[in-house]
Amino acid sequence: MTKLKLSGFAIAVINQKGGVGKTTTAQILARELAKDNKVLLIDFDGQATLTELIDLYEHYEKEDLDSYLESNSILKIFNRESISPLDITHTANAKSKRNVQINELHFIPSPGNILSFTAEAVSGGKDLLLKKYINSIKHEYDYIVIDSLPSVSTLFKNVLLAADSLIIPIQTKTNAIAGANEFIKVVDEVMGDYDLEYKNLFILPTVYNSQRRNDNDVLAEIKTSYLDFIASREFVGQTKTLVLEPIPERAVYSNAQDVRMNVQDYIESFDRGKRDVLLLLEKITKNIKKNR
Ligand SMILES: Nc1ncnc2c1ncn2[C@@H]1O[C@H](COP(=O)(O)OP(=O)(O)OP(=O)(O)O)[C@@H](O)[C@H]1O
Ligand SMILES: [Mg+2]
Repeated sequence: MTKLKLSGFAIAVINQKGGVGKTTTAQILARELAKDNKVLLIDFDGQATLTELIDLYEHYEKEDLDSYLESNSILKIFNRESISPLDITHTANAKSKRNVQINELHFIPSPGNILSFTAEAVSGGKDLLLKKYINSIKHEYDYIVIDSLPSVSTLFKNVLLAADSLIIPIQTKTNAIAGANEFIKVVDEVMGDYDLEYKNLFILPTVYNSQRRNDNDVLAEIKTSYLDFIASREFVGQTKTLVLEPIPERAVYSNAQDVRMNVQDYIESFDRGKRDVLLLLEKITKNIKKNR
């Protein structure tokens, strides 16, 4: 009997607060999922942090890449033009010293230039264009991971509306919950205008230090009052909310990003003492897959 192929599942890593670990999480997750799935990763942020980390220029002729970027900017979807993702499977595998190579990873880079990026979709009636684009290519992928921009805008709404599930990274630091509550209010407002419901909300505590009392207090608050706050919102309906295992501060290195490597590849190549982190990231990813 042939196995029925499920249509792709779109996961957005999103929070309007800057610097909470969205890009890091999107990169980790795409890498992990792509070990045995076909994954599309989208850099939907004019800061182009993810695009810089993926370091395309190291792997492609500059001329080829520039002409690809010119004709395949993600912003073209706002003029209802189609674009083709870039197959970066070999790029990702070339960086990796891991035994586990990835299966298939495609990428839509950000064209950068924050000003033109944020100005692109300003006129109304364009909130569903990312969803429309993703629906048009969904059958080709198992997972679509979207790294979001950090400011509430038409583009931000596009990400909220395109996703089947959200991953909401929250730092386990003072005041993080206030920002996270604001985010939930934004989601409630945006989703209130549409007949859409998420499958899951995955809350992902980040920059966690188990030795710090304050971090543990914030983590406890996420598991109690934050979950209660989410449950009280109208957009939730049948949506399941789940708090994932925190990603510890010690797991993420700024020098991994300096050498343009993702967390898993860096640990495998230079920091094998922290291989427990690899198991943790596998566990988090399994949890997400199980709940799709
Ligand atoms: N779990 C973590 N522990 C410690 N540091 C982290 C963690 N996750 C990310 N970082 C670090 O925090 C910084 C910001 O992370 P990242 O770029 O992923 O955030 P972001 O939410 O995408 O930011 P922006 O809102 O600007 O897009 C980076 O230097 C990254 O290395
Ligand atoms: Mg980012």
